[in-house]
Amino acid sequence: MLIEIPEVLSQAELQTVRELLADAPWADGRITAGTQSALVKNNWQLPEQTEQSHAARAIVLDALNRNPLFLSAALPKKIFPPLFNRYAGEQNTFGNHIDNAIRQCQISGQRVRTDLSATLFLADPDSYEGGELVIEDTYGEHAVKLAAGDMLLYPGSSLHRVEPVTRGARLASFFWLESMVRETERRRLLFEMDMAILQLRNTQGDSAPTVNLTGCYHNLLRMWADV
Ligand code: NI
Repeated sequence: MLIEIPEVLSQAELQTVRELLADAPWADGRITAGTQSALVKNNWQLPEQTEQSHAARAIVLDALNRNPLFLSAALPKKIFPPLFNRYAGEQNTFGNHIDNAIRQCQISGQRVRTDLSATLFLADPDSYEGGELVIEDTYGEHAVKLAAGDMLLYPGSSLHRVEPVTRGARLASFFWLESMVRETERRRLLFEMDMAILQLRNTQGDSAPTVNLTGCYHNLLRMWADV
């Protein structure tokens, strides 16, 4: 399931992150690639231990933690610290690959199983050509290019690529997370149920059936969640 989360960053946060990244010490993107993906990865990435990385990461994490749609869709248990990449000029593409199943954070040493992948778009889509995130799932290929500040969540198990950027620069934050609910189908069911309950509550208030359904949601979560 692909889930778009709109306006994860406010305009002010977006502006600050862009300013931080404007003169950041970008490095070859292969610093975090596995053996297979290193062969097809050709972009820029910000090393984890830079001042700009620390500051921009804190802004993204703060925004994620206050976003109810993200929290409901991902049910995050551990979030790999967000990274930043740039596609421009000669270093402008990332061919088909599947992300590594386990990531180890350089800073904390903590391991994260990559149940979900996320891309938070930071550049205005009109400012660059190409750079679509193309994801293959059982329903075929999906090319995604979102407004600056919007984010896509997609299963970590999916084959994906970033199309070549032929004009301008594509700037993004990306990260992985381990969910409290490992199975995609269970997580999807919980998300759909949560969204339906929200709609019921908005249209009918806290009626007895809405309270019962909310109880069912929490009891399913209790059954399936690993915290
Ligand atoms: Ni990837």
